[in-house]
Amino acid sequence: MTSKTILVTGGAGFIGSHVLRLLVNRYADYSFINLDALTYAGNLANVADLEKRDNYSFVKADVTDLDAIRKIFAVYPIDTVIHLAAESHVDRSIEDPLVFVRTNVVGTATMLQAAREAWKGNFGGKLFYHVSTDEVYGSLGETGYFTEETDYDPRSPYSASKAGSDHLVRAWHHTYGLPVVISNCSNNYGPYQFPEKLIPLFINNIRHEKPLPVYGKGLNVRDWLYVEDHARAIDAILHGGRVGETYNIGGGNEWRNIDLARVICRTMDEKLGRERGSSEELISYVPDRAGHDMRYAIDATKVREELGWAPSLQFEEGIAKTVDWYLENEEWLRSVTSGAYQDYYQTMYQNRS
Ligand code: NAD
Ligand code: DAU
Repeated sequence: MTSKTILVTGGAGFIGSHVLRLLVNRYADYSFINLDALTYAGNLANVADLEKRDNYSFVKADVTDLDAIRKIFAVYPIDTVIHLAAESHVDRSIEDPLVFVRTNVVGTATMLQAAREAWKGNFGGKLFYHVSTDEVYGSLGETGYFTEETDYDPRSPYSASKAGSDHLVRAWHHTYGLPVVISNCSNNYGPYQFPEKLIPLFINNIRHEKPLPVYGKGLNVRDWLYVEDHARAIDAILHGGRVGETYNIGGGNEWRNIDLARVICRTMDEKLGRERGSSEELISYVPDRAGHDMRYAIDATKVREELGWAPSLQFEEGIAKTVDWYLENEEWLRSVTSGAYQDYYQTMYQNRS
């Protein structure tokens, strides 16, 4: 296999750290540069195990800073970009939309432009891999699935900014011939996810016997995928995906939020040795998220048939592993929930209770 020099943006975040861990360990002859601005969501502890590896280095930079990105392309012989850096939390996008436009839209355009300039039309062996979300497709009713042909219909500032970034990636491909590939994935869960997202938030709150804020009636449906399976799909697409194509990735694992909350409660009761049913008493229905998408569900036929990818973990196993990880890594949780997280939690949930 030809050696590669891969720039991973957002590698100190949740999914990026798992992508790096998989690829750094699997491809010793590739070089990896982790580019991250270390926002509240980026944490070098997420990649601490990679720090001393010969084929890994870290650069602190902002994807909207064209000069800084140009310099990184000038220093390293980058032939592949895996672009994950983004603002990723829907609730934050409702509170503060402009940072989403800046990072997700302007940041992606900046990365595309820097790659195009650095590669100067010599696109052989080059690839810009853009990691995106199923939320660009909008919201489903009780039936149906998102396929790669589903029309875009984003409905939150987050999903609109990700849709904008997908369009920019396709524009650089069609206009300039930049070799690109895009994947759109469903909800991820697993270790190192920032505890603003549903699963780690509920694990952390149960641990501290705090209310579990279920939005609306808890009937919204998400399709959950263990994060390491997403990383495996990204590896498969990186090596076997067709240039210019889009691949949907999903768990085939739909849960209503309230049912998922109960699974987490049951698992936590078992792991903490608490009386069965005690965590469920913490469930608290709170006012709904503005514009809350009802259901996401992915048809992953294309990535399965073309590249042989399939999720490897059953959900019960994935949730048990995730709960174990958070319980064993209380120090990590404490460090990411100190300081600014407390203000965030107050702002987001004080008016909801
Ligand atoms: P995350 O919020 O955990 O991590 C984002 C990372 O990007 C952080 O390390 C942060 O420091 C970095 N970052 C943010 N702004 C930056 C900037 N201006 N310059 C450089 N770095 C910056 O996000 P995640 O959940 O790991 O998601 C990663 C990607 O995958 C995102 O593009 C997201 O849209 C996409 N995605 C996420 C999910 C999910 O369920 N979490 C599902 C599908 C797709
Ligand atoms: O579908 C992929 C997307 O999944 C990714 O692109 C996003 O980056 C990621 O954050 C995620 O978005 P969601 O909005 O679906 O995830 P979140 O964990 O925020 O919420 C999951 C569901 O749970 C959603 O229906 C809202 C609900 N919820 C969430 C929180 C944080 C609650 O009921 N209570 C909560 O406190």
